[in-house]
Amino acid sequence: MGFTLFAYLLMGISGITLFFQRQFSIPRTSWLRPLHYITGWIMVGLVLLLLAIGIVGTLGHYGSLGHSGHLIAGLLVVFLVLVSAGSATQISPKRSWARIIHVCTNILLLVGFAGVTFTGWEVVQKYLP
Ligand code: HEM
Ligand code: HEM
Repeated sequence: MGFTLFAYLLMGISGITLFFQRQFSIPRTSWLRPLHYITGWIMVGLVLLLLAIGIVGTLGHYGSLGHSGHLIAGLLVVFLVLVSAGSATQISPKRSWARIIHVCTNILLLVGFAGVTFTGWEVVQKYLP
């Protein structure tokens, strides 16, 4: 989860820099967009890994899912991350709607990550001594 939040921070910094370079027609830094893109897909991979660990762990422990609000928070984060990555593949000068969806989804993702961390912290307490 630490790596995921770090990736999110990197995405925020690189994304906002991309935004300002585009807004003020500042020559683009050649490595910034590839860095943003690659870190983005790594973040998608990390979130899907956390989902898999959570589901396998819960099924292993209870034999069923849905034992706390953490399930909803986790699925919401997965949904937002997939919408963020999906909208990114559609971003182009003609498709400004994709950029708006991308940026709005990523702002919501901050709330999503806070929710999944808070509910995850709650459920993990019962496993701690
Ligand atoms: C989930 C994986 C992600 C991928 C594959 C991705 C990819 C992209 C791409 C291709 C662009 C367009 C760059 C251009 O203008 O040519 C972009 C823009 C941007 N991304 Fe992401 N991104 C991802 C996640 C994020 C996250 C998590 C954030 C924020 C925390 C973010 C913030 C931004 C911002 C602010 C822009 C600039 C929008 C603009 O120019 O108006 N992205 N992203
Ligand atoms: C993007 C991040 C995460 C995702 C997508 C995610 C997803 C999930 C899902 C879907 C479950 C099954 C929940 C159920 O069926 O009741 C689960 C279980 C669990 N997760 Fe996460 N999780 C994430 C982050 C975290 C974090 C940060 C923690 C701890 C601080 C955590 C701790 C747990 C624990 C302890 C369980 C077992 C639930 C139980 O015993 O009731 N998760 N996770």
